[in-house]
Amino acid sequence: MPLVSTVPPQQDDPAAVNERAEKVFFTILENPPESDPAEHYAWLHANAPVFTTGNGMTVLSRYADVSAALRHRSLGRGKESVQHLTDLPPDVLEPVMARWRRTMVFANPPLHTRMRRAISNAFTPYHVERLRPVIHDHAHALLDALADEPGGNFVSRVSSPLGATLVGELVGVPEADRPLLAKLSPESMRVFDPMTAVAELPMAAAAEMRMAEYFTALMGERMRAPKDDVLSRLTAAHKAGELEDVEVVAACSNLMNAGMDTGVNLMSNGLAILLDHPDQIEVLRRDPGLALRAAEELARLDPPLNLNPRTALADCEVAGVRVAEGQIVISVQGAANRDPSRYTDPDRVDVTRDEGPCLTFGGGIHFCMGAHLGRIMVSELLTCLVTHFSAVKRGGPPERRLGHNIRAFLDLPVTLRR
Ligand code: HEM
Repeated sequence: MPLVSTVPPQQDDPAAVNERAEKVFFTILENPPESDPAEHYAWLHANAPVFTTGNGMTVLSRYADVSAALRHRSLGRGKESVQHLTDLPPDVLEPVMARWRRTMVFANPPLHTRMRRAISNAFTPYHVERLRPVIHDHAHALLDALADEPGGNFVSRVSSPLGATLVGELVGVPEADRPLLAKLSPESMRVFDPMTAVAELPMAAAAEMRMAEYFTALMGERMRAPKDDVLSRLTAAHKAGELEDVEVVAACSNLMNAGMDTGVNLMSNGLAILLDHPDQIEVLRRDPGLALRAAEELARLDPPLNLNPRTALADCEVAGVRVAEGQIVISVQGAANRDPSRYTDPDRVDVTRDEGPCLTFGGGIHFCMGAHLGRIMVSELLTCLVTHFSAVKRGGPPERRLGHNIRAFLDLPVTLRR
C-alpha cells in the first residue's frame, strides 16, 4: 500500500504553502466544472493535510483526522451554516431558524439525541429494506424508458424521479405531490448556501415556509388516519409526547432535503464515473453480486458533499492543532476518501475494492441516516443496468451543476441498448 502521495511536496516557505492551501481549499469548495478535485486532494495530502485559513477555519484532509474530527465530542453544530444569514430581515429569518434549530442537522446533544432517537425508531433498516423492490422496479422502468431516447439526460429522466420517489415513499409524501416537493426542496436549501445572493434569500425562505406548511397539513391528515410511513410514526411519537409538532414538521423537511438531492447526485456521479471506465461496467456485468461494493467505490470517488463543517463547542485539540471555542473545522471528506495512506492507489476506479467504508456519509453522532438507503439505491440501479441492458454508454458531453459544496450534474447524456 503506498504511503505517500504521488504529488511531490512543495518546497516553499510555510506562509506560501498556507496561501496556496487556502486557494486549493476554496477551489474544492466552489467546484468549478473544469477542475478535477482529485488533483487538489492530492496536493493537500502532500503539502498541507492540516492547515488554518486566514479567517480561522481549520481544514483537514487525512482519513484518520477527518474520521476523528467527525466523532470529536467537542466539535458540534454552531453557526457554520448560517453565519451568512445576518442580512435577512428578522421576520423572514426567525421562523426558518425556529424550525431548523429543532432539526438533527443543526442540533447538539441533548436535543440532537432526543430527535435522533425518535426519528431512528421511525426509520429503521427494516423500513429501508422494504424499499429495495420498489427501487429495483422503478429504476428498471425509468431506465427502460431512457433506452428509447439515445443521449437522454440520466439526471432528469432517471436519478431525479427515482430519488424523489424513494424519499417521498419513505417519508409518506403522496405521489402527486412529489414534483412540488422536488421543486421546493432545492429552493429552500438555498437559504443555507453562502453563495445565494442576499436578494434571493427571502425567496428561498418562502420555499422553506411552504414546505413547512405542506408537512403541517399532511401531519394533520396522518393524525386522523395513520399510514405505514415515517410521517405517521413521527406523528405517533408526537402524540406520545416525544416530539413537538414543530419538530415533526422540521424532521420531514429535513429528511426530504437531506435525502433527495444527495441521493440523486450520488446516483448521477457514480454513473458518470462508470461511463468513463467502461471496463468496470464489464466487471460488474460478469458479477452483478459486486453491486454493493461498486456503490461504495463510486460513493468514495465522488461524494455529493465533499466538505463537512463542525464548530468547536469548547477549546480543544484537533489533528494535533489547538482549536478555540467557536472556531470552524472543515473536514474535506472527498480528500479523506482518497487518502493514499488509507486506500491503495486511491484514484483508481475499482468496483471490486474492499477496503472498508468511505466517509461520504460523514460520521459520529450526525452520521447520515440515509446511508443504507443511499447504498442500496445505487446498488439496485447498477444491478438493473448490467442485467437488463447490453450496452451502457456516454450519450454526449455532460454538464456539471454549479454550487458550493455540491458535486452534481445538470445533464448526463446516456445511451442504453436493451
Ligand atoms: C444517498 C446519498 C447521501 C449522501 C451522500 C448523504 C450524506 C450525508 C452527510 C455527509 C451527512 C452529514 C453527516 C455528518 O455530519 O457527519 C448526512 C446527514 C444526514 N442525512 Fe444523508 N446523505 C445521503 C442520503 C440521505 C437520505 C436518502 C436520507 C433520508 C431520507 C438522509 C438523511 C440524513 C439525515 C437526517 C442527516 C442528519 C443526521 C444527523 O444530523 O444526525 N441522507 N448525510
